[in-house]
Amino acid sequence: MMRSAALGVYLACFSCALGLVAPATVFTFGDSIFDGGNNHFNNKCTAQADFPPYGSSYFHYPTGRFTNGRTVVDFICQFMGMGLQLPFLEAQSAVLNGSWKSYPSNGLNFASAGSGVLAATNQDLGVTAIEEQLQQFEALIQEKQFQTPEIRQSIFLLESGSNDIFNYFLPFAPPSQLDPDAMVRSMLAQVSSFISRIYGVGGRRIAVFSLGPVGCVPARALLPAAPLDKCYDQMNSMVRIYNSGLEDLVKAVPANYPGAVAVFGDVFHLVERFRADPPRYGFKDVSNACCGEGRLGGMVQCGKEGYKECGNPRDYLFWDYFHPSEHTYSRISKALWAGRNSTIRPFNLHTLFSTSNQTQPKPKPKPNSNNN
Ligand SMILES: *[C@@H]1O[C@H](CO)[C@@H](O)[C@H](O)[C@H]1NC(C)=O
Ligand SMILES: *[C@@H]1O[C@H](CO)[C@@H](O)[C@H](O)[C@H]1NC(C)=O
Ligand SMILES: *[C@@H]1O[C@H](CO)[C@@H](O)[C@H](O)[C@H]1NC(C)=O
Repeated sequence: MMRSAALGVYLACFSCALGLVAPATVFTFGDSIFDGGNNHFNNKCTAQADFPPYGSSYFHYPTGRFTNGRTVVDFICQFMGMGLQLPFLEAQSAVLNGSWKSYPSNGLNFASAGSGVLAATNQDLGVTAIEEQLQQFEALIQEKQFQTPEIRQSIFLLESGSNDIFNYFLPFAPPSQLDPDAMVRSMLAQVSSFISRIYGVGGRRIAVFSLGPVGCVPARALLPAAPLDKCYDQMNSMVRIYNSGLEDLVKAVPANYPGAVAVFGDVFHLVERFRADPPRYGFKDVSNACCGEGRLGGMVQCGKEGYKECGNPRDYLFWDYFHPSEHTYSRISKALWAGRNSTIRPFNLHTLFSTSNQTQPKPKPKPNSNNN
């Protein structure tokens, strides 16, 4: 514990002493929490949010993002001082049709709403699983669209697993062969392979975010076994086991992958703090969807027939049946960017971004009583 705190100081001072530049490239992988419009550009995919009133609070038109405004990735790009990332599929079509010569220099977003860490999750909706997102990225590297020095400086963001766990509780899905622990183990094996492949192509800085309390989403109203007056504990306990396994994977990165650093964003406990004291974080409703219909607003997707929208989305933790509002994403992003290690550890995104790859943990930083 002492060592990791000391290391934080070491990293911060080393980078300011050398005046090193922050990385300008981010590669994003995951599900609807991160999707910036890939599904919209995938006409085989039926998991969509490319109709009103999605996007209404910030973009003022639907972009394919599953919220009323910016996602966590968008906020992080803004904190870094760079433009919002484009969805890979949009950039790819512009490169293929010749309107652009190359891919954007600020990186790409490969996330696909509805996807899981397991390839089978929501395949019937035509979503792009993590494995396939990685293949898309690896293909760009083979084509030399991004060079190794750039990859080494880049930040890799991953958030995925909510859909695998939510679907595990669907009553009409084919019964899973796996018990919850085995299911979580197979998910973690995929994440472990993801980290290894990112490292394999030169990635050295990785941020992995935990799942939020998936058992609290308004869409639990669609599950006959779930309670409505409180969160679905069984689902949240599976989420906790997965999150804790994720954190173990992140902690093991420096030892397993020399020269790499990884941080773990504890979104679960952050959202639990919002839920425990809503007014403190500017929320009036932390249970219902702002936009939807039926019990908890969770029975109908926002924008679909019969939906209703609340007056002020800022008051709501949830924008629609599965997804947080922009206000929630804004709170989460600030805490991941600049927060303490109760939210993101061993250090925050600001430190991860502003630290050069040369300042990565040396085997043993020399204890130095004069390092202030
Ligand atoms: C978090 O930071 C505090 C000091 O602010 C330190 O005592 C503690 O060990 C750190 N915890 C982790 C998990 O890094
Ligand atoms: C090329 O693709 C981009 C992105 O999908 C699109 O905006 C643009 O209109 C296309 N241009 C042509 C000439 O087809
Ligand atoms: C750090 O970045 C520089 C420049 O991009 C690169 O030459 C070097 O190999 C990188 N070092 C590590 C340990 O990744």
